Amino acid sequence: MSTNIKKIPADDLDRVVAVQQLSYPQELWEEAAIFHEKQRVFPEGALGWYEDGILQAYLFVHPWRKNETAPLFTENMSLPEKPDCLYIHDLAIAPAARGKGAARELVNTAFALAEQNGLAHFSLVAVQNSESFWSKFGFTPYKSLTYSGVPATHMVK
Ligand SMILES: CC(C)(COP(=O)(O)OP(=O)(O)OC[C@H]1O[C@@H](n2cnc3c(N)ncnc32)[C@H](O)[C@@H]1OP(=O)(O)O)[C@@H](O)C(=O)NCCC(=O)NCCS
Repeated sequence: MSTNIKKIPADDLDRVVAVQQLSYPQELWEEAAIFHEKQRVFPEGALGWYEDGILQAYLFVHPWRKNETAPLFTENMSLPEKPDCLYIHDLAIAPAARGKGAARELVNTAFALAEQNGLAHFSLVAVQNSESFWSKFGFTPYKSLTYSGVPATHMVK
């Protein structure tokens, strides 16, 4: 099997939505247009992990402020003038592709992207009891919250 990470072409956003729907409860589902908006404001932060040419995992990141969470379902997005972190908005791996290192490869790519953009911090909202996963990458809890009705933890690094 050959794998690689690349910027997501616009016509793969429906596949992103399909992977998302296999990965999260409905309260958290965003439409393709919302992913497109994130891609518009920070194209290099919309990354797909491909196996034999098919998107099996994705990561959406963008510059942000580390003590703030980014809202879901944002139709008209703008980035902060003085970002201090790379915000990991969404990471999901199709169930059949989990446990193969896709998440680790995507997160490491995000770390490299932050360095290229002079961003020394990271921020994210962990859902589905993923805190222990994120702690493997050096994230620590900052605040508990409810995210679109789902229990969550704002984590920073
Ligand atoms: C959590 C998720 C991203 C992990 O993806 P994955 O491809 O299985 O992860 P990898 O194979 O790259 O594993 C990376 C490391 O994380 C560990 N890991 C994987 N899932 C984990 C979990 N649920 N809890 C704790 N550690 C986990 C692996 O053991 C591995 O550790 P190691 O390198 O020390 O052996 C994937 O299960 C997923 O997409 N879940 C649904 C969406 C989701 O909940 N995303 C995160 C919410 S913010």
